[in-house]
Amino acid sequence: MTALTLSTAAAPGLRADAIVIGVAKGAKGPSVAPGAEAVDKAYDGRLAGVLETLGASGAEGEVTKLPAPSGFKAPVVVAVGLGAEPGKGAGYDAEALRRAAGVAARALAGAKKAAFALPLAEAADAGAVGEGVLLGAYSFDAYKESGRDAGAKGGGKAPLAEAALLGAKPRDKAYKAAVERAAAVAEELNRARDLVNTPPNDLNPEAFAAVAQAAAKEHGIKVQVLDEKALTKGGYGGILGVGAGSASGPRLVKLSYTSPKAKKSLAFVGKGITYDSGGISLKPAGHNETMKCDMAGAAAVFAAVVAAARLGLEANVTGWLALAENMPSGSATRPGDVLRMYSGKTVEVLNTDAEGRLVLADALWAASQEKPDAIIDVATLTGAIMLALGSRTYAVMANDDAFRSAVHEAAEEVGEPAWPMPLPEHLRKGMDSPTADIANMGERMGGGLVAGLFLREFVGEGITWAHLDIAGPAFNEGGPFGYTPKGGTGTAVRTLVRVAELAAAGELG
Ligand code: BES
Ligand code: MN
Ligand code: ZN
Repeated sequence: MTALTLSTAAAPGLRADAIVIGVAKGAKGPSVAPGAEAVDKAYDGRLAGVLETLGASGAEGEVTKLPAPSGFKAPVVVAVGLGAEPGKGAGYDAEALRRAAGVAARALAGAKKAAFALPLAEAADAGAVGEGVLLGAYSFDAYKESGRDAGAKGGGKAPLAEAALLGAKPRDKAYKAAVERAAAVAEELNRARDLVNTPPNDLNPEAFAAVAQAAAKEHGIKVQVLDEKALTKGGYGGILGVGAGSASGPRLVKLSYTSPKAKKSLAFVGKGITYDSGGISLKPAGHNETMKCDMAGAAAVFAAVVAAARLGLEANVTGWLALAENMPSGSATRPGDVLRMYSGKTVEVLNTDAEGRLVLADALWAASQEKPDAIIDVATLTGAIMLALGSRTYAVMANDDAFRSAVHEAAEEVGEPAWPMPLPEHLRKGMDSPTADIANMGERMGGGLVAGLFLREFVGEGITWAHLDIAGPAFNEGGPFGYTPKGGTGTAVRTLVRVAELAAAGELG
């Protein structure tokens, strides 16, 4: 991963491949953002005009490259758009800084070192720029042997190797802490992206569990893996039913991070379908090519627990990864089968492609047995939620309005687009089954909410719970934007970390 350093050097004397500056969209054309004063001065204060002539407007996502002024050690200036100039007295929005830093980091792929002279009004801004750089520089080239994206080994462009943040006060505790936090979170988030991008022939439930075990050992997290035998003994009918058709057996992984100073306990539950073929209710071609991403919820939960441990948060955080591969075969669960779940409830499986709710049901019930203060599950659960919210926004549902708002606010704060959705009671009866306690399908209309109502049945009495349906933003099928790459995005990791921080600070309900 890109190395982050804090530097007190002045821009002209800095040895680097490029200097990154910010350009904002002002009332009268582009304006050079604070942090780049020395660069502007070297252009005789005419940099804004030069940029305008080069076609820059300051719009978000815009990159303008120009030769550095004489006397500069770095040969190139990269001007990146920050969007609208903030009002008088206001600073730049953290998300604008994150995105601009990410865009610049992507534009600098192949470079060894870049200096970032973006506006840093406070310590949190340094954290935002650092996070944007590390997330934007990400690339997944483990399977590329040659070509443009092959990284160093295939003669292609490797990610930016080092980013020096200028004006970030390396001796100031708050700045140092903000950048260290950004590095820990971004590093784990990028690991979650790697897991999502890893092809399903290399990442089955057993392999995912092994990755979790190794990370847990490294970071002092307690880990417990239930294999098929243990799941059978324990009566985890949902996870077993979904995994029944696969040659790779299912797993339930429990990661426990505990702090001696913890006052609150959180449980994060992740859907970890390492490949979703639909099972006997097979998905048609055109709907299964990206289904390696169906473990993005589990990857986010895993990353968040490791990040909480690395940050030493004063809260207990337990992660539950419900891992299975959904495949059709002679041993697969059939539409019409009834599963006896870990909670004791029976479920009539009407559609084997509605498998996420089945594995989550067992994991939610398992998490509930420890009576945490709150549970959050994360899942690429329904195509229906994508129809409602599009591909960049995830849905937040909950059995508690205040908690739903708190999670939504945390998402906004970290720059993860999310939106609250209801759990309308009238949709519950659509899942009534003539044979079992409940069916795994209900009305087609409001399918994302129906799935949420199904999950609610498996949350222990009196436990605060929220459900994040990340089917839209988990996997970016379009081109990269801001600090979001193509493929796995790591969505929800930063929300979960923020919620854990709030719990640690006693600011969560
Ligand atoms: N993993 C899918 C949901 C999904 C779709 C995630 C597209 C990401 C992109 C899930 O298991 C699924 O197949 N859901 C069905 C449920 C239906 C059968 C009730 C769906 O949404 O069509
Ligand atoms: Mn499915
Ligand atoms: Zn699925």
